[in-house]
Amino acid sequence: MAELIDGLVSWLEGTGLHQTMQTVEWAVPAVQTIHILAIAAVFASSLALSLRVFHLAGSDWSAAQWGARLNGWVVWGLVVLLLSGALMICGEPGRSLNNALFQTKMILLVVALALFFALARGVRALVRPEQPALGSVRLLAGLLILVWLAIIVCGRWIAYT
Ligand code: HEM
Repeated sequence: MAELIDGLVSWLEGTGLHQTMQTVEWAVPAVQTIHILAIAAVFASSLALSLRVFHLAGSDWSAAQWGARLNGWVVWGLVVLLLSGALMICGEPGRSLNNALFQTKMILLVVALALFFALARGVRALVRPEQPALGSVRLLAGLLILVWLAIIVCGRWIAYT
């Protein structure tokens, strides 16, 4: 695995994109800003839906309505995170790909995706505003928020390791 990562790092360091990210002064801050804005969209949308599942906010609409409204923001936010994250990796491949916190973050991202899609399916059945969510749907909503938080901590922490 380490050899595979080293090979990928060497290849990325030879690309034009790597040179651009290294030499254009505003490229890294601009991409980081986009990454942070996308984190805000993903986390805020998930948090709003989770609060709704726990009947702590937005109870005038059904959870299914909130899901239909918010889940697109999570999906497109994740697409932006993937693209901006890939650009940051091109800029400094060794720093991120070899970092244990980055690897942890990617594993947690797979867990978050599974929780997100399971929650999206779970809230589709909650079509009446007064309908209480099943314990399993509440569990998914709570876990998803905890996993997003863990991913955010890992993302920030990479800079200090
Ligand atoms: C989809 C794939 C993703 C990739 C490839 C990716 C990649 C990266 C990279 C390379 C960095 C820079 C780390 C450094 O060198 O300091 C970063 C920063 C960060 N990422 Fe991601 N990321 C992704 C998704 C996410 C998600 C889903 C979240 C949270 C919801 C997230 C949260 C963060 C945070 C908080 C930072 C620190 C930003 C800063 O302080 O400027 N990332 N990410």
